[in-house]
Amino acid sequence: MEKRTSLQGFWSSRLAFILAVTGSAVGLGNIWKFPYIMGENGGGAFMLLYLVFVFLIGLPAMMAEILIGRRGRRNPVTTLEIVGEEESGHKRWRVIGILGVSAGVLILSYYSVVAGWALAYIFKAAQGLFTAASADVVGELFNSHTGNWKASLGWHTVFMLMTIMVVARGVERGLEQAVRILMPALLLMLLVLLVYSVKNGDFSAAVNYMFAPNFSDLTLNGALVALGHALFTLSLGMGAVMAYGAYLPEDSNIGTTAVAVVIADTAIALLAGLVIFPVVFGQGLDAAAGPGLIFQSLPLAFGSMKGGVVFGTIFFLLLSFAAWTSAIGLIEPAVAWMNESFGFKRPVATFVIGGLVWAVGLLSVFSFNLLSHITTPFGTLFKTVDFFTSNIMLPLGAFAITGFAGWVMCRNSTSDELKMGTGLRYNLWRICVRYIAPIAIVFIFINKLGLL
Ligand code: TRP
Repeated sequence: MEKRTSLQGFWSSRLAFILAVTGSAVGLGNIWKFPYIMGENGGGAFMLLYLVFVFLIGLPAMMAEILIGRRGRRNPVTTLEIVGEEESGHKRWRVIGILGVSAGVLILSYYSVVAGWALAYIFKAAQGLFTAASADVVGELFNSHTGNWKASLGWHTVFMLMTIMVVARGVERGLEQAVRILMPALLLMLLVLLVYSVKNGDFSAAVNYMFAPNFSDLTLNGALVALGHALFTLSLGMGAVMAYGAYLPEDSNIGTTAVAVVIADTAIALLAGLVIFPVVFGQGLDAAAGPGLIFQSLPLAFGSMKGGVVFGTIFFLLLSFAAWTSAIGLIEPAVAWMNESFGFKRPVATFVIGGLVWAVGLLSVFSFNLLSHITTPFGTLFKTVDFFTSNIMLPLGAFAITGFAGWVMCRNSTSDELKMGTGLRYNLWRICVRYIAPIAIVFIFINKLGLL
């Protein structure tokens, strides 16, 4: 087979690729979403299931996305079309890519709204609004921020402009540099906060809540949410990692790369839980408070700690950066597709897609104020977009992508691309993508549908 080359350039090294994928993986999912959905789904049992899904489905699926991406060397739609044609003679596999590109646009539409809250909180923290505030005051601050559509809309707009700015310039220049510094800084900040939580929060209650599984708390819906989040947090199921994989140099080892990303992402999610839940329990807050959880718990910690104004400001700054590096990954597949298949220049493609995301995001902005009365069986419009993408589109995408790597691609192609021989490790991977991942996903879906 003649090797194709990427049209958007290459990562400068394997480390750069690891940082970029980690940058996309570590985001609001780890720090904002994970604690609150764990709180809504009963703690320890949810956590355990999430970890099982991360390693049994997430890790092999990540390897599958990278290998497909590198083989195709194009945006996810074209990549699936050409690899699919090589392997099976059919171009129709491109629909998986189209599903993924749409999921990215939809996810970013609400992700940007939450990232906008994080941006706004940088300034609230810096102004000292949390200092010595009570839980009620902090809760009111959050509700009045999201309830004010002008403020929410403004910050959503700022965040989308920031994202467009970087993506328009091309991935390598802006992104690699930012991620290299910001990720370690975020980790450091979480460790500082961990020290505070251990000393001042109810740490043992938190550990108990997170790590002592109580299976009677777990529902089928909880299992679906855990599966959806395992994919969401690793940026899987929508071709984002596939798009990044297209820019990976030929000789980089895919397996060890994926392991590094999965471990880093999981570590940050656990750390975020260990920072947030001690404050939640120490202050008698409700772990099931929903999307406002970190915006209502962490300010209490900042408000009562020495240097809290500085720490709080830095924390929300880093959270915004983490969201930024993820937003770039969410929009990249759509931008690369418009650029490669429709001939739009990269900056133009970025503006068009960014504008579309911004417009769809209005639904999420208004779901906390003007349109808060509109609900679906999943809750507000904001929750509906989140549920539909994370719990339906991503699992479907992951089912299709793992199935593609396991059943459509032949053994020779995948082992050639993974470069880890055809021994035990390769076979374990193949069993996961052929059987375990697709069956687990279908099983959860069928059960869930049976209950509806
Ligand atoms: N992983 C990101 C987070 O946890 C969110 C996300 C989902 C994402 N899918 C993505 C980011 C695709 C980049 C690309 O916050």
